[in-house]
This record gives sequence, structure tokens and C-alpha cells, in this order.
Amino acid sequence: MCGIVGYIGYREAYPIIIKGLQRLEYRGYDSAGVALYDGVDIKLSKTKGKVADLQARAENEITTNGSLGIGHTRWATHGVPNDINSHPHVSNSGDLVIIHNGIIENYDPLKKELTKRGYTFQSDTDTEVLINLIEDVKKNEGVKLGKAVRLALTQVVGAYAIAVFDKNRPHEIVAARMGSPLAIGVGEGEFFVASDASPFIEYTNNAVYLEDEEIAVISLQKELKIRKISDDSLVQPYIQELQLNLEQIEKGGYEHFMLKEIHEQPNAVIDTYRGRMLVNEGIIRMAGVDDHIEKFLNANRIIIVACGTSWHAGLVAEYIFEDLARIPVEVEYASEFRYRNPIITDKDIVIAISQSGETADTRAAIQLAKEKGAFVFGVCNVVGSTISRESDAGAYTHAGPEIGVASTKAFTTQITVLTLMALKLGKANGNVSASDYHMHLQELALIPEKIKASLTSDAHIQAISDIYKDSANFLYLGRGFNFPVALEGALKLKEISYIHAEGYPAAEMKHGPIALIDEQMPVVVIATKRGHYEKVVSNIQEIKSRSGKIIAIVNEGDVHVKELADHVIEVPDTLELLSPLLTTIPLQLLSYHIAVMRDCNVDQPRNLAKSVTVE
Ligand code: F6R
Repeated sequence: MCGIVGYIGYREAYPIIIKGLQRLEYRGYDSAGVALYDGVDIKLSKTKGKVADLQARAENEITTNGSLGIGHTRWATHGVPNDINSHPHVSNSGDLVIIHNGIIENYDPLKKELTKRGYTFQSDTDTEVLINLIEDVKKNEGVKLGKAVRLALTQVVGAYAIAVFDKNRPHEIVAARMGSPLAIGVGEGEFFVASDASPFIEYTNNAVYLEDEEIAVISLQKELKIRKISDDSLVQPYIQELQLNLEQIEKGGYEHFMLKEIHEQPNAVIDTYRGRMLVNEGIIRMAGVDDHIEKFLNANRIIIVACGTSWHAGLVAEYIFEDLARIPVEVEYASEFRYRNPIITDKDIVIAISQSGETADTRAAIQLAKEKGAFVFGVCNVVGSTISRESDAGAYTHAGPEIGVASTKAFTTQITVLTLMALKLGKANGNVSASDYHMHLQELALIPEKIKASLTSDAHIQAISDIYKDSANFLYLGRGFNFPVALEGALKLKEISYIHAEGYPAAEMKHGPIALIDEQMPVVVIATKRGHYEKVVSNIQEIKSRSGKIIAIVNEGDVHVKELADHVIEVPDTLELLSPLLTTIPLQLLSYHIAVMRDCNVDQPRNLAKSVTVE
């Protein structure tokens, strides 16, 4: 949902901004732009397209020197992606320039009012309205930039992370946040502003994350001053030390981030349970659960809210929690939950799952749950993210940065965290016996090696991908714990290869989707040994008798399905409950290879963005 970067200090701003935008491209990539102060004036270059297109254009169009600048990579909301609608936007006087991530909901009446006062607009964006509103306030009130931005924002309804500078005050950047993330990197004699810390990680480890409704005046003369937008009160900046390192946000020899992240899963799962799961001692330590154990044990039910892949992890968790902890679980799309007047009480626990920790619908669902008295537990990957801060308690997945837009390691690590929680609660409420508990811990400890083994099918999956890469449709079937994996496999394929795919519980096939099956239809079936093997074999037979092409995910050594299926992909055996951690791996690789063969942009699929901060 747009990435923003700003720099002020003693270095050349342009290369920092371009590199920063490249790291933030996962947030949106339909247009990009940069504004630099060259000591005299603002130099602006922007274009439809990616950051690479911006770079090619900027280096021809403007002089790129100067140590103050801002840049933007866009995911369009108001106004189609084109050169004019790209950010930054300059005010009518040419003095002020802005970058913005978010949506100004009341931009239309504001625009009408400004038009009446003689302002003109080049673009269709809400952002150009905001910069002229700031200019108008600045002129009318006779105030400096910081105050003008604050006063203008009191008139604004919507979400924003903005960075603004005034060419007449080239020693400062003003940044503000409501609903969209904004981090300020604090260096020696220099500052960075960005949607996340990745653009400045090699320059400083110190970051301040702005809270909603805060404005920062970042000045080389006076340091960093943060105030509340509503009442102008001063806020003490809280400087955090970042855990991120450069290696984590680079491709490390892989062709795509998605492939790197698929291969990182064995270690990501280890990082998720490191320090939490002590197999020999038979202990699961999770501060967020331990500190509120009574709440969990007395809960009437758990409601899981999430979107997309995180919602699929929630569905797997529903099966796991009900199986191990015998606590009733409901799983809701956050976007539906927030608007449907749900029944929630203070005996409910709401678990919000979000890789980014910034998803607007999930945030709104949390807000609603809190208003109704529920206890909110966040499962996030991004440390310091909004959802992690807005939850009453939580657990990080510790998967490391996920940059490919299609979620992979976030999914497996979310399931890992939720499994640990369910095991812990099941033991605490007496539903999991001591021996079962130990057996689960031991098996979970083997999962990273088994994921590694699953990854060895890569070349085989690539060959299968070559056969089916031109298919128009795919069906994914699974049962029990693997039904959500079928949904996730279908989502992965459609989002990165643009092939239509649907996931179904295998038994539902005969209630409709079976009508689609013919020799053109590849059907991916999860047919691991434990659970509903015989029933899935019957489903496979039904597909075969209608000439569908079967790609089956089976356990090592399976012979029965091998005879029926066109292709089998093997994964190691494990407990049924843990099998999603393995069966999902070949589905990720299948979608990856098909997308690569179709020449799709795997890491940045069209129309998508990694962090959906608008509803
Ligand atoms: C799919 C994908 C999305 C996200 C969804 C929720 O590969 O990445 O469906 O899972 O937008 O995002 P988070 O987990 O950040 O709340």
C-alpha cells in the first residue's frame, strides 16, 4: 500500500532513496517518484512503473544531488497509475512537497473548498489535496511547516503516513502517521523516514516508530520532536534498537525472494520455537500466554481474525486448537467480522494473525473486539508492527522479513506458533496427556528436517510445472487439517501465476466442482497417510474416472495413490496435525515454478501489495 522513504543529513539522498524504494517495492509498485532539494530548488522526477523505471528516468531528467529528499513507490488508490498521479506531489506555490501512504477519505470536500480559494490540481490524487491544504493553512495562519502540517491533519479523515518538506526550510522533514506505518531512523547528524526500517538498516540501528496521531518534526538544527496531532502535546521519542540485518532483506543468491523464503522455512520454524519449546524439559514457554493463562483457560471460545494466507493459518489453527485444547474456535475474515455486528463477550479471546501486523481490516477487527471487552492476542511477524502493539498480548513468529508478496514462511511459522499455544493450553487444561504432549513436542522438533526433505522434490516439481503451466484452471483438494492447505495452495497459484484456481474440502467436490473435471483440469490432491486417506483415495478415483489430471501429495513410500495419480510428490510422514507444515511446501514450489515459467513477476504480482493498509 505504498512505500515512502525520506532522508536528511550529510550524505547524497538520491541513492539512499532509490535503494530504500527498491526494498519497499513489496508495498506497491505501479509508479514511483523522487523529490530532491539541490540547495536552490525542488527537483522532481516521477513515472508510472517500477523503481527501476524511475531510476532510468530521474538520472536523465534531473540532477540527483542534494542531501534532502523524499521518494515514493505507489499502489494506486485515488487515480490510475500514471506519471501525474505518481508521488511526490508539489503544492501550488512550488515550495512544499509530500509523499503519502494511505487514503484521505474527505479529500473531495477539501478539494472543492481549496478550488474555491483558487488552488488548482494536476492529478486525481487525494495527496495533492493534502499538500495544498497544508500550504493554505501555512499561509493563512502564518505558521511554520510543522504547525501547518499538524493543523491541516486535524481537518483530515482517513489514513496516512506522510513526509513533507519545505524548500525554504531545508533543514527539516515533517512526518506524521495515522493508520499507516512510519519508522524514523535516527543516525549521527542524519535522519531517515520510511514505511519500515529496511531502507536505513545499513546506516543506523536506532529507530522510532511513530504511533497513530503523532507528528514528528525531524530537524538537523533541533533534533527530533514528536507531538500529538490532536492537542499538540509533546511525546518523548522512544528509540528502539533494531534486530534486522542486511542479509535478511537481500536475495542471498536466489532468483526471487519467494524462492529464498520457501527455502528459509526449516530455519524459520526453528527460529519460531527457539527458546519457547524445550523438548527435553517438556516445557513450552510463551510469555504472552503464560502471563494470561487464566484468561485462556477460562475462555468460552477463541475467535481468530485474519485475512488471506493468515486466515488459512487460522483455519489450520481451528482444527489444532479444537483437537488439542478442546476450546471452541471460530475463524473469521477480519473484513467480514468488523462489519457484521458479531457477538463478542469478555470471555472471548480474539487471536489476530497478521504477517505484516499492519493489515487494515485485521486492525479494525481488533479494535471492535477490544471495544466489546474481548482479550486480544496478536500473532505477527513484523516486530513492533501496529497489531503487535495494539494487542493485549501476543507472540511473534520470528520468521524474519518476508519480502515476496506471496506469503510462504509466514504461513508455516504462524502454524508453528499456534500449535505451540494449543499444545500448551491442552496440557494446562488436562486435554493433552503428558505422553501425548511429549510426543507432539518431539515430532514438532523434527519438522525442520522434514521440511528440508520436502524441499528436495524441487526439480521433480519443476518438471510437473512444465507440463501444467498453460492450464487455465486448477483445483486443489484436501481434507481435515489439509483442507486449509488446499485453499492456500490455490491462493498461491492464482496470485503469482494468474491461473484460476480453487481450493475445496475433497468431499465437497461431488457437490459441484466435479462438474468442472475433464482431461484439461489438473487437480492437486493432498493424500497423506494419516487422517482420511481412504476417503481421499476414493475422491482421487472419482477424478480419474472423469479423466482429470491428478497431482497427489503423498507420504514417502506410498504405493496406492501412485497407481492412480498422474504424478506424486512425496513428503515425509508426521502427525496428521503437523502435516500442513509439510504438505504446503510442494504447493508453494508448484506455484513458484509455474509462475516463473509463465514469465510472471513472482515477487511483485500485479495488483497486489504486501501490506494492505487500506480496507
Ligand atoms: C497471500 C498474502 C495475503 C496476506 C494477507 C494478510 O500470499 O500474502 O493474502 O496473507 O494480505 O496479510 P497479513 O498477514 O500481513 O495481515
